[in-house]
Amino acid sequence: MRKIIIDTDTASDDAVALVAALRDPTLQVLSITTVAGNVELPLAVKNALLSVERAGTYQPPVYVGAPGPLLCELETADQIHGADGMGDLGTLGEPALAPAPGYGADALARYAGGGEAELLTLGPLTNVALAIRKYPEAMKKLRHITIMGGAHPYHNPHTVCAEFNIMVDPEAAQIVFSFGVPITLVTLEACGGEARLDEAAMEKMRAASDAGRFCIDCNRTMIELARANSGAPSVDLPDPAALAVLARPDLIRESFPAHTRVETQGAFTRGATVFCKPGNLYDPAFGDEPAPENSLVVTGLDVAGFHQYLLDRVTL
Ligand code: RIB
Ligand code: CA
Repeated sequence: MRKIIIDTDTASDDAVALVAALRDPTLQVLSITTVAGNVELPLAVKNALLSVERAGTYQPPVYVGAPGPLLCELETADQIHGADGMGDLGTLGEPALAPAPGYGADALARYAGGGEAELLTLGPLTNVALAIRKYPEAMKKLRHITIMGGAHPYHNPHTVCAEFNIMVDPEAAQIVFSFGVPITLVTLEACGGEARLDEAAMEKMRAASDAGRFCIDCNRTMIELARANSGAPSVDLPDPAALAVLARPDLIRESFPAHTRVETQGAFTRGATVFCKPGNLYDPAFGDEPAPENSLVVTGLDVAGFHQYLLDRVTL
């Protein structure tokens, strides 16, 4: 059984990833750390605790992490996920669970230091960067990092170049990409288009179990946005896509190795992920140094396999 630690800015798609991870028999979730991103930190903590409870299996500790990015002001995404981050259903109540004592970055490094864990990140990389800076030796013992983040330039509506998780804290992201632990980056390209769940796929999940109903209902805001934009209900699930890639790398259909860097200075490009593919032309005359591969960039999934993976997770 693979041991994983999850860092999340829990809103509605994170919630599906948490439920699915806790219901995947091949994975053991050692800990969950929360970070501000989609929503302010207190809501991310509450939503993570609710998701652990709704998974209906075991309950790993949930830690409170960073309340905002390293340098810039927090930008949330409540317009996408709802004011509460969970579709503003008004029916989810308060979690019975409480967060575990201790700070998120400290807990993250403690579990990483055990040398058995892989890290799955579903939000801005603030906690991971803090843990790297404070406990580099422990963090070097991480076996792998799977990140939901990044986008091919010009595909993402949020800004002309940047995907939300990277855009919220570009400095943190650059610290993580330059650290040296191998990374699989599951980009927006892998999660949109045909990977979206259409109405039929959502109904199958909803009908499968209480956990399935929770997974779909908490994404109400995103579903209704899609209906308003396209005339039909559907939902993008980036974070569950990143979990699926971690759990089932056989679902990867399109990817390329790269040296990934993060733009932190650009007036229009801040937060962009810049992919330098091995073998790109370097001109030593300009003193170019071949940049070492630091990531596998995933841009396409086996969509049917991804949908089946999610349905299996919520089927009793
Ligand atoms: O761009 C998608 C990512 O930003 C997902 O992790 C979503 O939850 C938001 O955090
Ligand atoms: Ca997220």
